[in-house]
Amino acid sequence: MQRLVIGLLGWACIALGLVSAQGVVPGKVFDRFITIWLENRDYADVSIDNSIADLKRHGILLTRYYAQTHPSQPNYLAAIAGEYFGLNHDDWVRLPENVTTLVDLLEDKGISWAGFFEDIPSPGYMGNHSDGSTGTDGWDYVRKHNPFVTYDSITNNGERLLRLDSFNVFQRAFAAKEVPQYVFMTPNMMNDGHNTTLDFATKWSHKFLQPLLADKAFDERTLIALTYDESESYDKPNHIVTLLLGSAIPPALKGTKDNTLYTHYSMLSTLQANWGLHNLGRYDVGANVFKFVADRVGYTGNKDPENLLAINNSVSYPGLLNDDPSVRLPIPAPNLKLVGAGGLGILPAIAATWSKDETRQTPYDGSGRVCDGERNPPIYNKVAGGPP
Ligand SMILES: *[C@@H]1O[C@H](CO)[C@@H](O)[C@H](O)[C@H]1NC(C)=O
Ligand SMILES: *[C@@H]1O[C@H](CO)[C@@H](O)[C@H](O)[C@H]1NC(C)=O
Ligand SMILES: *[C@@H]1O[C@H](CO)[C@@H](O)[C@H](O)[C@H]1NC(C)=O
Ligand SMILES: *[C@@H]1O[C@H](CO)[C@@H](O)[C@H](O)[C@H]1NC(C)=O
Repeated sequence: MQRLVIGLLGWACIALGLVSAQGVVPGKVFDRFITIWLENRDYADVSIDNSIADLKRHGILLTRYYAQTHPSQPNYLAAIAGEYFGLNHDDWVRLPENVTTLVDLLEDKGISWAGFFEDIPSPGYMGNHSDGSTGTDGWDYVRKHNPFVTYDSITNNGERLLRLDSFNVFQRAFAAKEVPQYVFMTPNMMNDGHNTTLDFATKWSHKFLQPLLADKAFDERTLIALTYDESESYDKPNHIVTLLLGSAIPPALKGTKDNTLYTHYSMLSTLQANWGLHNLGRYDVGANVFKFVADRVGYTGNKDPENLLAINNSVSYPGLLNDDPSVRLPIPAPNLKLVGAGGLGILPAIAATWSKDETRQTPYDGSGRVCDGERNPPIYNKVAGGPP
């Protein structure tokens, strides 16, 4: 009986993606990363908000952080895959098993991870939306704000699927000091501001973050990135607020600003730099690393993209998931030859899958050039040979 109980407990811990003290993989600058996603507001409006002003005292405000495109969904997909595959809408989409994500990079190094979605009806739920626990008629949990369920490489694996769970499970893990090392969090459509106001979402965030920012909230150095998926205006350049918080922020940097140019791909390159991860061979390579991390690990690749002035990241470029059939393209092959911010090449398993494709052309060159659907389409080049 005792064995059975222990066995079941062990299984429950795996299912929830919890970490035990000896299971923590130390990073160079932080040991845990939590990103929390709010919806659809412009930098100009959020940066003067009172709740954000109070939170800013605890962290670093990134003043030049831009989303990838509009509307919401492609930005979420991009944040874990380094690519949004031409997506320009919020409807149901799915990507095949051979498209790899951050999850593969983390698991390769034994780093625990989870996605927490407020009001998700059950662990690993793959439906379009929930039944409306907020009383808003089925608009509290939405699939378009959960990138993980779009990737077959995640949903075809039961253990991975079970790592997508509710905010209640997060709160239990937090109380038990067993929060996984990488955490992606989406509040429901009220708390993230989608169906409410700017002020409603920033007040919610302020309250939600207080216990996470308290002294000794976590035993390990924890970096929290509060971000928006995209701006509200489409006529301006998709400029959003991202705030870096948590015990991993050096005291001297609290209340400061960082004027480096970032996009959602910077989360991927920063994680690679911190944990010495392999890369995905997509736009993760060449994305600027959060400066306080880059400085500490000695990463010197940060720079403005060469096409900075021409970028219009309000329009999606052509690709597989575009709703205009005339601009659909196959899934681009990753570039197998790039070295990323983790100092390593592409994950060997990704190289093994894609090197079979002899005709492959790739738009990824590691330059940090930002692509869009207007003046900066991806430029495909043939890249011969295998990994570096
Ligand atoms: C989700 O929406 C898509 C269309 O956007 C539809 O084909 C699919 O059946 C829906 N799934 C569920 C579980 O309702
Ligand atoms: C919430 O947003 C969705 C999608 O834009 C919309 O269809 C729905 O009516 C909104 N619900 C409320 C309560 O505002
Ligand atoms: C980007 O393109 C959209 C659609 O063509 C246009 O409405 C918007 O003004 C452009 N924005 C910028 C910053 O050029
Ligand atoms: C990736 O998977 C898709 C869908 O199964 C398939 O069409 C494509 O050929 C695959 N590409 C490679 C390089 O395996």
